[in-house]
Amino acid sequence: MKADQTPAPKILVLASGSGTNLQALIDASRERDFPGEIVAVGCNKPKAFALERAAQANIETFVVDHTKYDSREAFDGALMAEIRRHNPDLIVLAGFMRILTTDFVRALRGQMLNIHPSLLPKYTGLNTHQRALEAGDDTHGVSVHFVTEELDGGPVIAQAEVKVLEDDTPESLAARVQEKEHLLYPIVVRWFCEGRVQLGSDYVLFDGELLKSPMRLPDSE
Ligand code: GRF
Repeated sequence: MKADQTPAPKILVLASGSGTNLQALIDASRERDFPGEIVAVGCNKPKAFALERAAQANIETFVVDHTKYDSREAFDGALMAEIRRHNPDLIVLAGFMRILTTDFVRALRGQMLNIHPSLLPKYTGLNTHQRALEAGDDTHGVSVHFVTEELDGGPVIAQAEVKVLEDDTPESLAARVQEKEHLLYPIVVRWFCEGRVQLGSDYVLFDGELLKSPMRLPDSE
């Protein structure tokens, strides 16, 4: 509950790995004027470090271990039950490495964000840093988008660019992209919680207007 007694939008974060984006969101959510509250963190891997980060921040956690389910539908059903229990306004995928079923994604339409390490629509899927290097791109980056049925294909809300350096390796490039991720995701989550971004039929509404191209984080490099 924030100072004006209006309940803050509830955020549920799903992660599979180390959770550096989760940490950036936790840190941002501790700022006095942050307009949302992280109510739970869910993981599909019982040993994900993201769970420790959440526990250290006194955030409730849950695990839905995908290896214990026979099908994607069964896994998604169990995950949905956990999500419903927390009744969030927003689901934030932060390195959640499971492909979700169409029914699951449809049920949460307009309420689920993902961060993807490329300048979408370039390089959906995996190994984005390597693919940007192999293609000889001068610029790479990160996108935050609404989740729709199409993998990494939902309307993009915001992007941040990173210049590719001559001696970059996938690892060095990934590290600089991650710095941008940690800046960008809290900004977009804040916008969502403030009611500034919404999903239209196949576009983003920003402050009630059609967003013609993704918002850009100013390039500080
Ligand atoms: C990030 O690179 C994100 O773009 C991708 O998965 C990674 C998660 O990293 N979707 P972390 O667990 O937040 O450190």
